[in-house]
Amino acid sequence: CGIVGYVGFKNATDVLIDGLRRLEYRGYDSAGVAVKTNGQLEVRKKAGKLARLVEVLEDEPLSGHLGVGHTRWATHGPPTDANAHPHPVEDGSLVVIHNGIIENYLPLKERLLAEGHVFQSDTDSEVLAHLIESHYASDLEAAVRAALAEAEGAYALVVAHKDHDELVVARTVSPLVIGLGEGENFVASDVPALLPYTRRVIFLHDGDMAVVGKDGVRVMDLEGHPVTREASEVDWDVEAAEKGGYPHYMLKEIYEQPWVLENTLGGRLHEESANVELGLDLDLTRFDRVHVIACGTAFYAGWVGKYLIEELARLPVEVDVASEYRYRNPVVDERTLAVVISQSGETIDTLEALREAKRRGAASLGVINVKGSSITRETDATLYIHAGPEIGVASTKAYVAMLAAMEMLALALGRARGTLDAETARGLLGELRKLPRLVEEALERRPVVAHVAEKYHQATDFLFLGRHVQSPTAYEGALKLKEISYIHAEAYPAGEMKHGPIALIDPRLPVVVLATRGPLYEKTLSNIQEVAARGGRVVAVATDGDEGIRRHAEDVIYVPEVHPLLAPIVSVVPLQLLAYETAVLLGRDVDQPRNLAKSVTVE
Ligand code: G6P
Repeated sequence: CGIVGYVGFKNATDVLIDGLRRLEYRGYDSAGVAVKTNGQLEVRKKAGKLARLVEVLEDEPLSGHLGVGHTRWATHGPPTDANAHPHPVEDGSLVVIHNGIIENYLPLKERLLAEGHVFQSDTDSEVLAHLIESHYASDLEAAVRAALAEAEGAYALVVAHKDHDELVVARTVSPLVIGLGEGENFVASDVPALLPYTRRVIFLHDGDMAVVGKDGVRVMDLEGHPVTREASEVDWDVEAAEKGGYPHYMLKEIYEQPWVLENTLGGRLHEESANVELGLDLDLTRFDRVHVIACGTAFYAGWVGKYLIEELARLPVEVDVASEYRYRNPVVDERTLAVVISQSGETIDTLEALREAKRRGAASLGVINVKGSSITRETDATLYIHAGPEIGVASTKAYVAMLAAMEMLALALGRARGTLDAETARGLLGELRKLPRLVEEALERRPVVAHVAEKYHQATDFLFLGRHVQSPTAYEGALKLKEISYIHAEAYPAGEMKHGPIALIDPRLPVVVLATRGPLYEKTLSNIQEVAARGGRVVAVATDGDEGIRRHAEDVIYVPEVHPLLAPIVSVVPLQLLAYETAVLLGRDVDQPRNLAKSVTVE
């Protein structure tokens, strides 16, 4: 979602709308502003695109010198007027804008309801407004601090109060940047909103709070101790700014993966019930088979899903690329659950396969990123992956979000069917919670990956191998490399290599092997030896601390240790980076590779 805040001498409404327009790529299912006018905060908000809000403002204009604005990509609660931000408290004295997820919003909401607060929306964000109000005496900064001490989760937060001429802001995980002006200052989730006004910015760090007035900005930690944050000059143009300063959308999206995972998992993991809360209107106990259907990268996420669902829920799962599924006369009945996975929700092959499964009597579940997309209008239920807009044609952050969603779906099925005991489920929930941090760590290994890319970018072919849940990872690694570097790459389940592709092995063929720790580690090691013995060049992706593997592999890219069923989420990161670095070295058009389209709506 996009955030803009302003305090200064200009007409706040104009600055906010202009900023939101530049952030529309961050989400566009509702928008809203609040502006301080004559000592009161006035809110206008509307479901739908920003243009709808602009129409409302034409009828009921707002003017003032302090305000906040938001454009939303819905997570909790559907895109309605009430769920749009800003969220005011009942008497309108304060408003809140929030990106991210407040994990413990339900218990907080129950408490606040009991204390007499009246809620107007279904969002977790509104809880913050009431929580701050409950702590407010006369010091807004102190009230925000006290509220944040109680809130768990991710947030970029902007708070305005009718009796204060400053905005109070804070961030944890979700980004927030302050723009510095003369007699005016700005806040935004992303730099593009600020570019017409200033290039001097302060990037807030995790756990920073700030008080932003028209003549100054104070930054402090969540305990209130002042901290110093240097201002930096951004010399980006608008396009560079939309890329968050990264040279390509793809790289930006790769780096967004830790907080994308926070978003996907946020608020859905429940240790008490040892379950996930997916809000699906489906009876998960009534199925005796699952068909997973998707295309491209989404297909590989589905393939990982097969291992997970079979393991945790003991349901037979078939996985198909959508264009095959439609024409193969699949065996389907009312006890079949068709799971269709799609980032865009518009891929025509997937949509048609869904229709085919439904015609044959299946119940259907979409695992989808884009709200309200075609597929979501036809499935019985939708599990949104909340990855935010993905612009790079080669999918990265949507893939890890799909994987996390499939983990949760398998867990939910296992719990519903009684095949997964509470203790094991709790263990998995704990492991899922670690993912954002582990992916962050995996990203730090980029220099090693860059070195491998440098070494092999002239190769004409690559082979990728993996076993079990890491077979799809190998395929996804090969797909990424093909898509953006145009180097021919093949993938195989490692155990199958000896039945054919082993003939290809020679000193010119780099072989990337997913050799992370897990039940099949030893077997994979044997496969590595088979490659090495034939003069192949092995690049191993291995678990931190596995020194032994250096004996067999020429290059090793280490990834943090994680539960074997979650290994694909962490291990795909270096493969994405390998494809990226290789494509850059070869001078390819990373964000718009030849012949490909982000969303394919022809059969
Ligand atoms: C296209 C894209 C792929 C993508 C596939 C499925 O072919 O180039 O990157 O994985 O479509 O897209 P979807 O939106 O259904 O996930």
